[in-house]
Amino acid sequence: MLAELEQLKARAFSELDVIDNLKHLEEWRLRYLGRKGSLTLVLRGLSGLPLEERRVVGAAANEIKAALEAGLKQKQDSLKEQSLAVALQKSRIDVTLPGYPVNVGRFHPTTQTIREVCAVFASMGFQVIEGPEVEWDYYNFEALNIPRDHPARDMWATLWVEAPEGENPMLLRTHTSPMQIRLMEKTRPPVRAVIPGKTYRYEATDATHESMFYQIEGLAVDRGITMGDLKGTLFEFARRVFGEERRARFRCDYFPFVEPGVEMAIDCWVCRGKGCRLCGNTGWIEILGAGMVHPQVLRRVDYDPDVYSGFAFGVGVERIPMLRYGIEDIRLFYGNDLRFLKQF
Ligand code: DAH
Repeated sequence: MLAELEQLKARAFSELDVIDNLKHLEEWRLRYLGRKGSLTLVLRGLSGLPLEERRVVGAAANEIKAALEAGLKQKQDSLKEQSLAVALQKSRIDVTLPGYPVNVGRFHPTTQTIREVCAVFASMGFQVIEGPEVEWDYYNFEALNIPRDHPARDMWATLWVEAPEGENPMLLRTHTSPMQIRLMEKTRPPVRAVIPGKTYRYEATDATHESMFYQIEGLAVDRGITMGDLKGTLFEFARRVFGEERRARFRCDYFPFVEPGVEMAIDCWVCRGKGCRLCGNTGWIEILGAGMVHPQVLRRVDYDPDVYSGFAFGVGVERIPMLRYGIEDIRLFYGNDLRFLKQF
């Protein structure tokens, strides 16, 4: 009996030795230590033996059982360790590899320009506001001293919006100037604001014309505002945006809502005034329209023109990066072409 037990132990251990996975290990456990396992059967059979023999065989069997259980535990541990090592090996990462580049978005050049220009005016005490793109005829024209049927309306090829019978006519604003009226209606002087936004014209597109483009309007009204304030403020804007050494030129121009009206030009930074392609050989580059707010416009919003005066200006947004970077076609801005947009 003892010899048989020794054999059983030897067999069990030699089998255990070559086991290399948990499934076979479990089968091994059942074979020897399970409820119907060989060792279990031996232990159960003890009761049939005479007392003396039972003691000896029982002790040996228990010892073997303990040895097998210890062997089982050891094997389990080493198999688990192995499989962990394999898993780690498989999922190994090389932390020294360079990462994937993250796509970083950016602002559209138009947005960048609006932000830059508005920041310049904000630093001079102007607030930044916005207004509607679908506008009443009243704000876009009438209140700006451009009456119905007046030839001055021809300056703005207009996209009309169909309004119900009897309603006042509506349109897509042809400039940001209507916001001058909306703002003054709502507040009393002092007024200092810039208004960036989309504007629309009923025009064929070409390299310098889009049917949708952006403007930034400016308005300052207070007691004692003069043409000197207009020039100083706009000259400062030009130097901050186009370079400290810029010179400015103001010439008479006509806009119905200002008197006098001016056009502002800056000296060409490519040829420094000598004449080149950028400035069309004139040495000067026109950048905006401006003027002293017309008394008629002030009266319209109940500002007394004998007490208050102001200046206004309107600047085209796309023209600024076009001039700066030599972009030759305004249509590039809204062509949704990443090759173009990613350059800014
Ligand atoms: N609204 C004008 C346009 O679109 C530009 C302009 C000119 C705005 C003179 C002004 C101004 O405020 O004073 O053509």
